[in-house]
Amino acid sequence: MATTVAAEAKFDLTLTEEQQLVQRTAREWSRDRLLPIAAEIDEQGAVPRALVREMGQLGFMGIDVPERWGGAGLDMVSYVLVMEEVNRACASTGVVLGSHVSLATAPLARYGTDAQKERSLIRLAKGEWLGCFALSEPASGSDAASMRATARRDGEAWVLNGTKNFITNGAFADLTVVFAQADPEKRHKGIVAFAVEKGAPGFTVGKLEKKLGIRGSDTAQLHFTDVRVPDDQRLGAVGEGFAVALWTLDGGRIGIAAQAVGIARACLEDSLAYAKERHAFGQRIADFQAIQAKLADMATEIDAARLLVWRAASMRDRGERHSAAAATAKLFASDVAVRAARECVQIFGGYGYLQDYPAERHYRDAKITEIYEGTSEIMQLVIAKEMLGDASA
Ligand code: CAA
Repeated sequence: MATTVAAEAKFDLTLTEEQQLVQRTAREWSRDRLLPIAAEIDEQGAVPRALVREMGQLGFMGIDVPERWGGAGLDMVSYVLVMEEVNRACASTGVVLGSHVSLATAPLARYGTDAQKERSLIRLAKGEWLGCFALSEPASGSDAASMRATARRDGEAWVLNGTKNFITNGAFADLTVVFAQADPEKRHKGIVAFAVEKGAPGFTVGKLEKKLGIRGSDTAQLHFTDVRVPDDQRLGAVGEGFAVALWTLDGGRIGIAAQAVGIARACLEDSLAYAKERHAFGQRIADFQAIQAKLADMATEIDAARLLVWRAASMRDRGERHSAAAATAKLFASDVAVRAARECVQIFGGYGYLQDYPAERHYRDAKITEIYEGTSEIMQLVIAKEMLGDASA
């Protein structure tokens, strides 16, 4: 019978004492420092840089980076525990953290040279620098390999030209992991990855996008015009860039799945509190079976999604093949978040439609989890390739 690699994975559900401590710390910090200002972050369209620094001090910004390089030296499971808690309080802050950790520090930690780590990873892991990941372009999102940005070798440097789109943290990042095509005839095998620092001549921030949700995070267009990048800022081998991008995205997708679980949990917890206090027809709305069924379904789906996230994270920690497990977690968890947000607005009724209550923010924030770091349709493609034996990752 056909099975998936993920189905065969060994999976220990027990959190270590250290992981429990991380979870508690993240839960308390998010509840005390983030939750009270989540609506303000959304309204003002910015996550305060002071909060990012606090996440650095707590070790969240370099949670899975070895201590030698300034990180907390923990694992991916710890990272998803933090992501769930932060996103339960504020999805905008969650994506700032997620893009930094899984899309910038992770490729630097895996593919960077010691000199690159010394120069950049330590500062990123401590939260002194903010990182971002620039793969998508105006004309290529899902079909990432067809990028048009170019990298031309010129002596000991490369010259980058092109535009990158939808870049979370793009406006403020100190370091950008960027991908460009050095040899179009080789298609994905011609792609090269670089770590480019803020302020490089010719590297500019363009349009800032106005979004449906996660409004506190910035989403920018980045322009590269004859940007000279020394060869020692290349990440991985020449032609290895696409593998760097997809390995990075496998981890990013686990992080977004954890974000989706956090948003769904916010929906459930806010719905529960409201259902206990709102009265209709002489009783709490929580006493109606129609409401109880919604709450029970939300809780069930959140539990299932969390287990998929933990499984994918623990597979990545063990160095096992995990592309399909990551895609499965993201596909399911993002769907759960969108459904939970819809039910949350419904339970709040007319108040759910108002900005005075958190339900409408959850509804707006949830949707993006089905789109960024690979759409749900791309997740289906990755899972199907694995089952059909076509995957090469
Ligand atoms: N890890 C490493 N390498 C991998 C891999 C993985 N998970 N999956 C595939 N590869 C390798 C393959 O081995 C293959 O290499 P070889 O030819 O040497 O064997 C190569 O990549 C090409 O594989 P495919 O033929 O499968 O590639 P494809 O062009 O058909 O694309 C895809 C596959 C899954 C559709 C991929 O393009 C993809 O994931 N697209 C979505 C991109 C995406 O998620 N973008 C989000 C950008 S980030 C963002 O949104 C947030 C932000 O803030 C910036």
